[in-house]
Amino acid sequence: MTSTNDALGFETLTIHAGQEPEPITGSVTVPIYATSTYAQHEVGQPRQGYVYSRPKNPTRSALETCLAAIEGGAFGYAFASGMAATDTLLRAVCRPGDHAVLPSDVYGGTYRLFAKVLANWGVEFDAADISNVDAVRAAIRPQTRLIWCESPTNPLLNIADIASLATVASDAGALLIVDNTFASPYLQQPLLLGADVVLHSTTKYLGGHSDVIGGGLVVNDAELAQSLAFHQNSMGAVASPFDAWLVLRGINTLGPRMDRHCANARQVAELLDGHPAVADVYYPGHSEHPGHALAAKQMRDFGGMVSFTLRGGRQAALDVCRHTTIFTLAESLGGVESLIEHPAVMTHGSTAGSPFAPPDDLVRLSVGIETAADLLADLGQALDRLS
Ligand SMILES: Cc1ncc(COP(=O)(O)O)c(C=O)c1O
Repeated sequence: MTSTNDALGFETLTIHAGQEPEPITGSVTVPIYATSTYAQHEVGQPRQGYVYSRPKNPTRSALETCLAAIEGGAFGYAFASGMAATDTLLRAVCRPGDHAVLPSDVYGGTYRLFAKVLANWGVEFDAADISNVDAVRAAIRPQTRLIWCESPTNPLLNIADIASLATVASDAGALLIVDNTFASPYLQQPLLLGADVVLHSTTKYLGGHSDVIGGGLVVNDAELAQSLAFHQNSMGAVASPFDAWLVLRGINTLGPRMDRHCANARQVAELLDGHPAVADVYYPGHSEHPGHALAAKQMRDFGGMVSFTLRGGRQAALDVCRHTTIFTLAESLGGVESLIEHPAVMTHGSTAGSPFAPPDDLVRLSVGIETAADLLADLGQALDRLS
């Protein structure tokens, strides 16, 4: 779907892009078009391009228009999950013999797709420290088709220089794909920094309420957009009308939610910093974080994710996860509620034994939008037990 309303502010786009009142009743919310098919005027004459809901559904079209608008891109596509978006994109752009450069701490599911699925189709990959432009350049081969970028990365919250990586990619004739799930378009718009593709797990900050699984892609290039639309329809991993509606409703409040996620995360990172049981804190908002200056330049704020290691090692990490109550022990991130997890066993378990495996004394927090004092008290008591 094509984006509109380029001149409007971000929060206005989250509420209005693709979401004009419905023309028959004036409904101010986008209806959930629970239909698989559409009556046609004549043979081969559909109404406004709607023939069947795998290629196109009005609720999904609204979300796709909104996704494109808030990422500052031209074309948006909504999928059944972030991994469905990833898979559809990679099958659209990769051919046997192609090579990809991945962040050495890439999301475990992305690693699994490359290592266990695409490897069987002849797509090769190497890991590189995505925060080091020279390391990424050194990993490029003549067959490199894409650089995969997360910034901040999951789970170590490294910051990648998106504009410089865009130059490295275009010099190599490759695509720069940015998984913008951790930042959200409120904090960072990779297409405006030169990326070719933005990917989302809309399950996270865009949906924002831990009630839906979804994915999204946004691009500017019309030829790539056509290929994505073709593959989206051919592979069929589309967002359902209800799921599209949930994500759209989540996007409506993205800006205010992100402000609160960021403010709470700042306080949580401060608490961790001063706690004797904590070894290292990974949070790009800290001035001593190696990516701090870059994050301050390419992001509006530092995000709601904080990771840390424990002086007591793996057992201490497992104990902290066991003893919080407001921070719920669960995978995922980006919802209104705070979550805690142990990446080596949970979200990144599929990377065990590979160079992509996270440290086993690492804990990852998705800081929610509850009352900050309650979050600090909850985490504080779990850490105090270790001292
Ligand atoms: C950074 C990142 N990208 C992609 C995904 C995959 O998204 P989904 O779970 O919606 O398939 C996740 C899921 O945790 C993620 O954290």
